[in-house]
Amino acid sequence: MAANAPRKILVTSALPYANGPLHLGHMLEQVQTDIWVRFQRSRGHDCLYVCADDAHGTAIMLAAEKLGISPEQHIESMRERHIHDSSGFLIDFANFYSTHTEENRKWSEDIYGRLKANNHIASRTITQAFDPEKELFLADRFIKGTCPRCKAEDQYGDNCESCGATYSPSDLIDPVSAISGATPVDKESKHLFFKLPEFEAMLKQWLDSDTLQPQVANKLREWTDAGLQEWDISRDAPYFGFEIPGESGKYFYVWLDAPIGYIASFDNYCQRTGHNFDEYIEPGGDTELYHFIGKDIINFHGLFWPAMLHSAGLRTPTAIFAHGFLTVNGTKMSKSRGTFINASTYLEHLDAEYLRYYYAAKLSNSVDDIDLNTDDFIQRVNSDVVGKVVNIASRCAGFLRKGFDNTLSPECAEPQLLADFIAAGDNIAALYEQREFNKAIREIIALADRANQYIDDKKPWVLVKEEGQKAEVHAVCSVGINLFRVLMTYLKPVLPAMAAKSEAFLNISLDWTALESPLVNHTLSKFKPLIQRIDPKQVEAMVDASKPAEQNTPTAAQRPVTQTKSDDDMQQAETIEFDDFAKVDLRIAKITAADHVEGADKLLQLTLDLGELGSRQVFAGIKSAYQPEDLVGKHTVVVANLAPRKMRFGVSEGMVLAAGPGGENIYLLEPHDGATPGMKVK
Ligand code: 2FM
Ligand code: ZN
Repeated sequence: MAANAPRKILVTSALPYANGPLHLGHMLEQVQTDIWVRFQRSRGHDCLYVCADDAHGTAIMLAAEKLGISPEQHIESMRERHIHDSSGFLIDFANFYSTHTEENRKWSEDIYGRLKANNHIASRTITQAFDPEKELFLADRFIKGTCPRCKAEDQYGDNCESCGATYSPSDLIDPVSAISGATPVDKESKHLFFKLPEFEAMLKQWLDSDTLQPQVANKLREWTDAGLQEWDISRDAPYFGFEIPGESGKYFYVWLDAPIGYIASFDNYCQRTGHNFDEYIEPGGDTELYHFIGKDIINFHGLFWPAMLHSAGLRTPTAIFAHGFLTVNGTKMSKSRGTFINASTYLEHLDAEYLRYYYAAKLSNSVDDIDLNTDDFIQRVNSDVVGKVVNIASRCAGFLRKGFDNTLSPECAEPQLLADFIAAGDNIAALYEQREFNKAIREIIALADRANQYIDDKKPWVLVKEEGQKAEVHAVCSVGINLFRVLMTYLKPVLPAMAAKSEAFLNISLDWTALESPLVNHTLSKFKPLIQRIDPKQVEAMVDASKPAEQNTPTAAQRPVTQTKSDDDMQQAETIEFDDFAKVDLRIAKITAADHVEGADKLLQLTLDLGELGSRQVFAGIKSAYQPEDLVGKHTVVVANLAPRKMRFGVSEGMVLAAGPGGENIYLLEPHDGATPGMKVK
C-alpha cells in the first residue's frame, strides 16, 4: 500500500443485547470505538463503524412474553432506545442494524452451510435439564436451588452468590426452574456442534500472530492448551432466533448468529449506499477489519469466530481490540449506590462530551479496568476542557472582538511555537492509532498548558492598557487562536460537538491534514461558550436518579419496563412483587400548562391538575413528541406518590406515564368525559 493511500477500514463494537437499556459500560466501548473511527477519518481514511442489536435468545423471548408483546416488538423498541442513547453520546454509526434481519438469516444459513459442507458440524444427543411445565430446556442460569456447599437457598444453577462455589445444576439441592418453579427433569435432545478442535493448529497460529493483545492471546492459550472442545451451536424450540436449515425445531444459538450480525449490518449498509461489500469479507485484500469488544467475550471473538470464518473461506479480523470493565468509584456498578447508570439517565443530567473526554483521558490499549471516579470526572473535565482548552479561545476572543473587529493579525508572530504544536501531531496521531488515548490526551493538555503559559507571559490584559501595544495584543491573541485551532483539531475525535462549535467560531473546518497554513488576516465569528463547567449537583442528581427508589426516570416511564443484568445472555427480566406495585398511586391528571425548559433537549415542564390532590409541577421527557401548546387540555396518568425529585432544572413532583417507543411516538390520554382529574387508575 502506498504510504498515504487512504485505508479502507471496517470497525465494529460488540452488539448490545436487545433486552435492556444501554449503561455507561456499553458507552465506554462505543465511545472508545467512535473516537478511533473518527480519528481514522480525520486522517483521511475511509473508516466505517457498524453495529447492531443482538436480538436473539431465550432471555429476550421470555422478557417479551412477560411484557405481553411479541419478541419482534420488544427488540424493535429496544433498538430504537439504543439508537437514541448512542446518538446522544454522538456515536457515529454508519449502520446500527439488528441480528433479527433477513441479511443475518441469509449469512447465518450461508456460513453454517459452508461449515457443514466442510464437515465441521457434528451432531449428537445430549441430556439437559428440562422444565416440564414450560416445556423448555433450561440453561444453567434458569435453574435455582440450594447451594450444595453452604446451603444458601435460591442460588443459580452454575454458581453460588453466597459462598462463591461453582457447580453444575444437577448438584443443586431441590432444584427448580427459575421460570415456572417446576422441578426440572432430565431430557435428551439432538444438538449440533461446531468442531472447534479441528482448528487447533489454525488458532495457535492466529494466537501467535500479534492479532490480539498479549494478555488476550495468553488467556486464550489457556483454552487451546487445555484442549479445545466442540461448541454447541443449536438450541431447541421454543427459542427466539433462526431455525437451522435441514433440522426441525432446532435454532442457531444466539452466539452463532451474533458475530455474523457484523457482516449482516455491513451488508445492509452496502446495499443502501452502494459501498463495496465483497472486498471487506473476502480474504487476501487490502481492507482492514477490527472488532472492539469487552474482555468478557474474547473466547467468542478470539477462538470461535476466526475458526468459523476460516472454515467458511471468509477473511479473519485484522485485529481484535479488547477493553476492560467499567467500575464506578472503585467498585462494580451498583444499583443501590446509584452507580449502575443508564446512558439515558446520564444524558438527562450531563453533556455527553464530558464523559467522552473522561473516558478518552483514561483509556489505553490494555484490558485493564477503567474507573469512573465521579469527583475526578468533575475535576478533570472542568480543569482540562473548560479551564485549559476553552480558556485559550475565550481569553483571546474578547480582545479580538473589541479591538480588531474579530480579525486575526496579518502574520503569525510565533511561527516556532505554532510549528511545535503542529509537529506534536505526529506523535498524537500515533497514540490515537495505538488506542493510547490517555497518552494522546496528556500530550494535548500539555500543549494547552504551553499555550496558556504563553498568554500568561504576554499578559494581553496588561498590554491593552499600555500605549503603543495594540499590535502586540493583536499578535498574541492571534497566536492564541491559532494554537487553539490546532488543539481542537487534535481533540475533534473525542469532542465532535465542541469541535463543531469551534469550527463555527473559527470559520474553518478543523482539518488535521490542513494545519500547516496558519490563520492570518482571517475573520472569526462571534465567540459563544463552547461547553459549560460541570456543576457537582448535576452528578449528584444523576446518581440519585440511578438509585432503586427513583429508578423510573421520566423518560423511562415511556418505555417497556425491563431491567436486565449485563453479563449474561441467559438472564431474565427482573420482576416486582404485587405489594410493590400496589404502593404506586396512579391518578388521572389534566395538563393545564406546558413550557419549554431552558437548556433541556428532551424535557417539558408540565403543570398538572390532580383534582383533590391539587396541582403539581412535573418534568417529563416528551419534548420529542409534543409542542407545549399541543399538550394543554390532554390527560395523562401520573404516579402521584413519587417522592419529589430534584432534577437539574428544578423539582419534579410526580411522574407522567405515557406509552410508545419514544421519539415522535409518545402517547398520552385523550380527555374523556368519564375521567376526571385526581381519579384513581385501577
Ligand atoms: O456480550 C454481549 O453483550 C453480546 N450481546 C455481544 C455480542 S458481540 C457479537 F458477537 F455479536
Ligand atoms: Zn454456597
